[in-house]
Amino acid sequence: MYTLENQTGFPVCKEPGTSLTDGINLQTYLIVIDDIMDGSKMRRGAPAWYTHEDVGLQAINDGILIENSVYSVLRKYVASRECYVPIVELFHDITLKTAMGQCLDVMSAKDGKPQLDLFTMNRYSRIVKYKTGYYSFQLPVATAMYLADMFDEEQHRQAKTLLLEIGEFFQIQDDFLDCFGDSAVTGKTGTDIQEGKCSWLAVVALQRATPAQRKIMEEHYGRPEEESVRIVRNLYEELSLPSTYAVYEEESFNIIRTQVHQISKGLPHDLFFKIMKRIYKRDC
Ligand code: IPE
Ligand code: MN
Ligand code: MN
Repeated sequence: MYTLENQTGFPVCKEPGTSLTDGINLQTYLIVIDDIMDGSKMRRGAPAWYTHEDVGLQAINDGILIENSVYSVLRKYVASRECYVPIVELFHDITLKTAMGQCLDVMSAKDGKPQLDLFTMNRYSRIVKYKTGYYSFQLPVATAMYLADMFDEEQHRQAKTLLLEIGEFFQIQDDFLDCFGDSAVTGKTGTDIQEGKCSWLAVVALQRATPAQRKIMEEHYGRPEEESVRIVRNLYEELSLPSTYAVYEEESFNIIRTQVHQISKGLPHDLFFKIMKRIYKRDC
């Protein structure tokens, strides 16, 4: 049987005196909703929560329940501490930023048609900073800093700058894997081409496309037919996007490494290297 716990992919907290919801978090809430918005069928090797016959659009309310569990957990463990208010405000602020990012993300298509003229690297960076960077990278580190009684604004600013950089790196990987990853490994099936997403692959393809290749994108991008998906994937290959991606991954890793060395405000460099090590060359 699938339960919401299966969908979290994280070990559920089994400490004595804690409830199951203690292990459920903001990420789960966001992906339960995201899968509905993106029409994704699989998540972490299991059918997406909303696809279960007895769940459907109730998944929206489940998402709201999960979101609120975040604040119950914070209340339970942190309420008596000085860092409580900064952490709660951080979660609210970043949830809002993520919702704005998701809004930008779905606005890449209008009436089911991808707005290819809007697919610039500039817009891409803005979408992924908001939809992914803040909640996946800045949030956990800033929370940990507050829990460690680190309140220095400049320190938080330096961490944020770097973590948003890492977040963009991570989402570019996500976009690549959406098209070229092995779903047995990623645990999810890609929908970016069908949904007409402003993905890194689509942006780079349009930068490089000849007028004839752009026409292929106009005809086939954002279409549900398998044939169209195949045609777009072939175009990506023709434009050598897999090797461009491999070069990007390498170079970007080196740039981020240099930036970590430049951090001056007493943040542990090792933390950032550990995060990068976890995601560099990932295939899931
Ligand atoms: C998800 O972005 C961002 C949030 C859940 C807020 P994607 O839609 O690209 O992520 P996947 O590929 O479904 O995991
Ligand atoms: Mn998605
Ligand atoms: Mn999405």
